[in-house]
Amino acid sequence: MTTDQPAPHKPRVAIVFGGRSSEHAVSCATAAGVMRAIDRDAYDVIPIGISRDGHWVLSDGDPQLLELTADRTPEVAPDGAGVVVPLATTDRTLTTLEPQEIPRSLGEVDVVFPLLHGPFGEDGTIQGMFEMADIRYVGSGVFASAAGMDKHYMKVLFAGAGLPVGPYAVITDSQWQRDKAAAMDAVGALDYPVFVKPARAGSSMGISKVSTPEALEGAIEMAREHDRKVIVEQGIVGREIECAVLQGRRTDGPRVSHVGEIEVTADGGHEFYDFEAKYLDDGAVLSCPANVPDTVSAEVQRLAGAAFEALGCEGLARVDCFYTDTGEVIINEINTMPGFTPHSMYPQMWEATGLPYPQLIDELIQLALTRPVGLR
Ligand SMILES: Nc1ncnc2c1ncn2[C@@H]1O[C@H](COP(=O)(O)OP(=O)(O)O)[C@@H](O)[C@H]1O
Ligand SMILES: [Mg+2]
Repeated sequence: MTTDQPAPHKPRVAIVFGGRSSEHAVSCATAAGVMRAIDRDAYDVIPIGISRDGHWVLSDGDPQLLELTADRTPEVAPDGAGVVVPLATTDRTLTTLEPQEIPRSLGEVDVVFPLLHGPFGEDGTIQGMFEMADIRYVGSGVFASAAGMDKHYMKVLFAGAGLPVGPYAVITDSQWQRDKAAAMDAVGALDYPVFVKPARAGSSMGISKVSTPEALEGAIEMAREHDRKVIVEQGIVGREIECAVLQGRRTDGPRVSHVGEIEVTADGGHEFYDFEAKYLDDGAVLSCPANVPDTVSAEVQRLAGAAFEALGCEGLARVDCFYTDTGEVIINEINTMPGFTPHSMYPQMWEATGLPYPQLIDELIQLALTRPVGLR
């Protein structure tokens, strides 16, 4: 057997993580998981970090330094070699720039895997940049990413597609600046408790559960620290049941996983599935398949696939529902770049459905590599 055959071209995958949003550290944790699991025999990996202030830097992608623990919040440092992404459709070559050095080519990139959560990553902005350059990337395109990031427009689109969402009110920045009292009047139609949220955030950042009208203004101000557009939702009493969705191959419809349940443990002191319960302590238990009647899991799966299609999602999304005490299923939200560490709900639900994490990563990259660029 000869060994001097040229190696077949391995697709070059740029893994982009960190980013400008408040979910920077969560994204680093996701990158740690993917860096460990991605098949190096199948792919050439280029890790690229985006610092909190928006610098793109070449990273060594060391998973140990990217892990999120109770004692350490990982962060992409803004120093090191800068990375430039081309903006012309004729070029897919990444270049590194270092002070006093001649720019160095990193070679062509075949596909980008943006592991970014939150604004400037999950919201269509970075997707638009890749579209401009005809660079393939994992996940939803510009519109679905933007719609999935904004808890207000997401609900408008779901309701328009006939999918169930709970009652809510929106407070824009200009309404708030003009007349706070009038803006808060819109919340009057909702029953307390309400959930006050930044419209475009994630990982429960800036969210609070408000039980009395007196506490509303403070909660809105807190949400506004993350996004000047705020959504106030009526509290839903029920269980949190989620479903992982994967784009179908070629012209097939979306594939849905077994449904999973998040239970916030009563002794952890969490009022809901907040940041600490999500990432830092044992405040929540994930189980999949969820212990719900078959009719309920079928309904969650139906809604998950329909929600994916209502927004025109691609690649992956996690759809989170409430199964209410009165037996209804209501969509809470869709996440176009859900938590993606090996322990996160999305990979766990696929694992339980028979698709382990390394294969899931592979499947997502293959879906992106085979999809056309431009309008699809
Ligand atoms: N309308 C609601 N009723 C009851 N609980 C809610 C409601 N909205 C949010 N929550 C709780 O807050 C958590 C975070 O809210 P979510 O809308 O999912 O924001 P994020 O995008 O940050 O995950 C949910 O997982 C749930 O525990
Ligand atoms: Mg959520």
